Amino acid sequence: MAKTIVILDFGSQFTQLIARRVRQAHVFSQVLPYSVSLNQIRALNPAGLILSGGPSNVNLQDAPVCDKGVFALGIPVLGVCYGMQLMSTVLGGSVQPAKKREYGMSRVRFDVSSRLFSGLKPESGCWMSHAHQVAELPQGFQNTASTDTCPVAGMEDAARNFYGVQFHPEVTHSQQGVDIIKNFVLNICGCPEDWQMSSFAETAIEEIKEAVGEKGTVLLGLSGGVDSAVVAALISKAIGDRLYCVFVDHGFMRKNEPQLVKEVFSAHFPVHLSALDASERFYQKLKGVTDPEQKRKIIGAEFIAVFREEAMKLGALDHFAQGTIYPDVIESGAAPGSVTIKSHHNVGGLPKELGFTSLIEPLRPLFKDEVRELGRVLGLPAKMTDRQPFPGPGLAIRTLGELTKPKVDLTRESDAILIEEFEKADLNKQVSQFFTVNTDLRSVGVMGDERSYDTAIAIRAVTTDDFMTADWARIPYDILALISRRIVNEVPGVNRVLLDVTTKPPASIEWE
Ligand code: XMP
Repeated sequence: MAKTIVILDFGSQFTQLIARRVRQAHVFSQVLPYSVSLNQIRALNPAGLILSGGPSNVNLQDAPVCDKGVFALGIPVLGVCYGMQLMSTVLGGSVQPAKKREYGMSRVRFDVSSRLFSGLKPESGCWMSHAHQVAELPQGFQNTASTDTCPVAGMEDAARNFYGVQFHPEVTHSQQGVDIIKNFVLNICGCPEDWQMSSFAETAIEEIKEAVGEKGTVLLGLSGGVDSAVVAALISKAIGDRLYCVFVDHGFMRKNEPQLVKEVFSAHFPVHLSALDASERFYQKLKGVTDPEQKRKIIGAEFIAVFREEAMKLGALDHFAQGTIYPDVIESGAAPGSVTIKSHHNVGGLPKELGFTSLIEPLRPLFKDEVRELGRVLGLPAKMTDRQPFPGPGLAIRTLGELTKPKVDLTRESDAILIEEFEKADLNKQVSQFFTVNTDLRSVGVMGDERSYDTAIAIRAVTTDDFMTADWARIPYDILALISRRIVNEVPGVNRVLLDVTTKPPASIEWE
């Protein structure tokens, strides 16, 4: 069995990013809530433990504390931010409010003789987010890093293999963060680099088999995107044709998407596929609705309604599967310590009224690029695994304001041109997500000798690693010019093309 790193979650938004960095080092990791018993941790026989960050303050009465016995297991422990502060107080040091709250990038100076910082440059930018800091080191500890305002930004007791960092090595902004995590899991914990995405697939398939049992059946909604396709591949490998897939065309799909889904799923999987055109119902329900959250909620609810009816027709099915991935969990506020930014309709939990006995979400810990890799491991065709992410509500949240078929058609047709030109220019490999938005704005133009008063279409194209932060893609002007010309010429009703040059944050990737 592969050596495991256990990550105890104290509610940080970045806990799964720690797990991802450990996976990137080809080491298996498991995230557990901080409150698990010592026996549950022991049962995994971990090679090391990471205590995550979290929003609380260790000096509060009700601050989250893990079983203190973790420090007597005889394995290396790395505390990150709150995790380091907890380590400090439990082992006899103290934590005090910082004179100055540190949030964002800070220059950190490292003692590179520490095993944790071995091979690092002695100084680099790291991402900080804290209002408290270690004031007194516990006995046996040494200070190993500092910033101008945080004298103890790192600490260690090398004899016991206890390490702490006040900054977040797991976020991409921390320049040497990956090296720090690698030093911990590979050198300090001694894990071999033997974990692959195929191991994730094997484990997930086994877990699905166990959850579904010998005779159980599963209903899965296919969205046309990568996530649900990868879930379909995983479940069909686990239970074959006891998987029932339902593809609901809500009327907000990209151009030719319904056909592609049918083609790929009839060719590659021995699953039952019901493909439904439910667009009329969705448009009816959305009549007069302009608020983005309302639109999302209505589409989510209608989805469930369509599913419910289809499930009834299919006969009682036991389990419900979803392609929820980690950024969906975080942005929907479903993870502890996070706030709701948008309600993603696919993170609503188990729709109880459908009577399913469990919810299967095998991709919950993964990030988008990991899902693609998993899809490749499972043998999905590239046209499926390389598809850019597409939100559940589809073009409905890229068509601002009230939804009408003619408005959504402008979004769809302009989007198809954008995709075609990005593919021709090979930009689809470099840009993480790109689409057009119908801004619902009309402006004056001249077409031939005629005055026009038509719609402005915006281009949104971003580069991102994990979809939690993003930069706008720098697209060559010539390609932008070509796309703009084509959209205005080929999509009647559009007379202006705009480019969105906003990063996330502060903007989100989608416009609604
Ligand atoms: P935002 O707009 O929140 O998008 O910056 C981050 C990523 O999530 C996708 N997204 C969704 N995916 N259901 C989904 O499955 C949704 O409701 C949804 N809303 C946004 C978005 O396309 C981007 O990749």
